[in-house]
Amino acid sequence: MFGQPRIHVPECESTQLLLDPALPEGAVASTDHQTGGRGRLGRSWDDEPGAALLFSILLKPPVDRQAAELSLVAGLATAESVERAIARPAGLKWPNDVLVDDRKVAGGLAELRDGVVVLGIGVNVNQTAEQLPPDTRTAAASLRTLDGQTREREALLADLLVTLEDAYRTWLAHGIGALHDRIASRDWLRGREATVGDASGEVRGIRPDGRLAVATADGTVLVGSGEVATL
Ligand code: BTN
Repeated sequence: MFGQPRIHVPECESTQLLLDPALPEGAVASTDHQTGGRGRLGRSWDDEPGAALLFSILLKPPVDRQAAELSLVAGLATAESVERAIARPAGLKWPNDVLVDDRKVAGGLAELRDGVVVLGIGVNVNQTAEQLPPDTRTAAASLRTLDGQTREREALLADLLVTLEDAYRTWLAHGIGALHDRIASRDWLRGREATVGDASGEVRGIRPDGRLAVATADGTVLVGSGEVATL
């Protein structure tokens, strides 16, 4: 069961560093504040102490499974959980940013370590506008700036873990294609001009295999992983 065992510390460098690979799959580490929070592609992930949901979960998919697909699984589960919390649609910016009103409210980071995956998720929950990082590439929002309500982070974590476990087990049993409808209906990049890795052009959407299709001047390119910059 996801969330067992559970480690919670008031402060740490990064929850990505708290999970021993020997722990069982589903073990979760959470904190109220990270002093060295990590984002994707070597970026930092800053938080306001006590305001964000910050956790990592240990996953042990079979070695022949594409760990990159896990980013999409995590993004989908986070988007669905955010939607339930605020009763509004959320967009999934491939592979795993969650946006509401074109503002980023959550992100995920899947790191492969000693044959296991440490999946970290950060959700902006109770920050005020002034407490959000001002210099992010995508403007940030919190659930509170979106609807004015403060929330129990524990309740959001419980819902997200159930949603993530369900999506993860579907992915394990049936592959990323089994989640495609849920992913594609939230595809925030589709129809936008973007540069993804070396490919620039209009994004044609997330394919059933999880890759992003980009219509470039030289034809359609399918990208499996990489940095996205919208134009
Ligand atoms: C991103 O959007 O760049 C990914 C952000 C991931 C942040 C979470 S917060 C919990 C976990 N610990 C970290 O240091 N990073 C992830």
